[in-house]
Amino acid sequence: MISIRFIHADQTVQDIQTTPGQSLMKAAVDANLKGIEADCGGSLTCATCHVMIDAPWAALLPPPVPDETDMLDFASSPVLPTSRLSCQVRLTPELDGMVVRLPPTQH
Ligand code: FES
Repeated sequence: MISIRFIHADQTVQDIQTTPGQSLMKAAVDANLKGIEADCGGSLTCATCHVMIDAPWAALLPPPVPDETDMLDFASSPVLPTSRLSCQVRLTPELDGMVVRLPPTQH
């Protein structure tokens, strides 16, 4: 199991425990986390799974593929250098303790 800390736009903190091997979006949805809508179910066509990954962990992630970067243009909240689409972030044991910030809105 690994732990992921989500920080909502109002600074509320929510920790979840999950298993590596799945996407960050799937882990969040399975934990009933509010703030990730994931309207397309992870097929990279909605941008409602937008998150910002804190710096130490962001550097551990593979860079986004061009389709992810293109889709981030449709995010409803401002996109930052650490913005990712959580359906494209594959959880690994190295990401234990990762801090993920949620945008104020996904729509
Ligand atoms: S869930 Fe739709 S792009 Fe990630």
